[in-house]
Amino acid sequence: MLKEVNIDWQNLGFAYMKTDFRYISTWKDGKWDEGNLVEDNMLRISEASTALHYGQQCFEGLKAYKTKDGKIQLFRADENAKRMNRSCRRLLMPEVPVEKFIDAVKQVVKANEAYVPPYGTGATLYIRPFVIGVGDNVGVKPAPEYLFCIFCLPVGPYFKGGMTPVNFMIADYDRAAPYGTGGEKVGGNYASSLMPHEIAAKKGYADCVYLDPATHTKIEEVGSANFFGITKDNKFVTPISPSILPSITKYSLLHVAKEYLGLETEERDVFVENLDEFKEAGACGTAAVITPIGGIEYKDKLHVFYSETEVGPITKKLYDTLYGIQIGDVKAPEGWIFEV
Ligand SMILES: Cc1ncc(COP(=O)(O)O)c(C=O)c1O
Repeated sequence: MLKEVNIDWQNLGFAYMKTDFRYISTWKDGKWDEGNLVEDNMLRISEASTALHYGQQCFEGLKAYKTKDGKIQLFRADENAKRMNRSCRRLLMPEVPVEKFIDAVKQVVKANEAYVPPYGTGATLYIRPFVIGVGDNVGVKPAPEYLFCIFCLPVGPYFKGGMTPVNFMIADYDRAAPYGTGGEKVGGNYASSLMPHEIAAKKGYADCVYLDPATHTKIEEVGSANFFGITKDNKFVTPISPSILPSITKYSLLHVAKEYLGLETEERDVFVENLDEFKEAGACGTAAVITPIGGIEYKDKLHVFYSETEVGPITKKLYDTLYGIQIGDVKAPEGWIFEV
């Protein structure tokens, strides 16, 4: 019997909720232990942990979806495992074997099955794996021990009552350096994004658009999502740079655009001076799949793409197809879905 939880699935936001179980595994003396599920959501770590002082930590974000026939599935969880390992390598943390990562995610989802939102509500189960450097170590060097943890929580439908475009502004700050850690999902990138985000929010924008840190002429990220645009001749275009986080949603959309919608695709530089080459634009990531971009403020002028109030037809089709794949309504490419 599934535990009864009293959750208003339609009105969930994106806020922390303590679910029943989380996974924790410790790396010590050169290896990971088996790991296990625990109920306590508090971590007890050394005050000298590198994660607390030197940002030696990384994280991931993925979701579990309920299908029409009641199954629970994960979307491209192996890609999250591989990306987490790239982050671990960059920060000299031990990698987590892909099978261990997927098995642990499945354990957490199964143990919290009651919190997986029903099909049709638009809500999903958000899963947050992370690796942190812990143990006694005050020098700037890698930690002696590590924790690999996963918790999960139900999150609301991103668009209540339809997809609504939002506006962004170009940031005056960088989130990452040219050969820094922008391409990895490490906490430091997000710490440095808090202030530019707040500045944008105070000016009434959803978030800011980051330009390439070397020349400040090319679009890199849109808040904590990747950018894509649809050109006037129907090409799906997305920027390429080592300081962009390789979005799993973005690479999935590149495939969907080409193989499901028959569009030409390009990964290339997107110059902020050339925004009028696009008739539609969007931000993509796990949270929203796609957030349509109404306009971007650049040099005190708002450049509007399709519309500030309506979603463009290609953006809508991309969203419907990818979300359809994630919830099992549309046939997925081989290897994209992991049944729990
Ligand atoms: C900076 C940044 N860019 C892009 C993304 C989108 O990546 P994904 O599609 O893998 O969720 C995220 C979210 O993970 C992010 O934090």
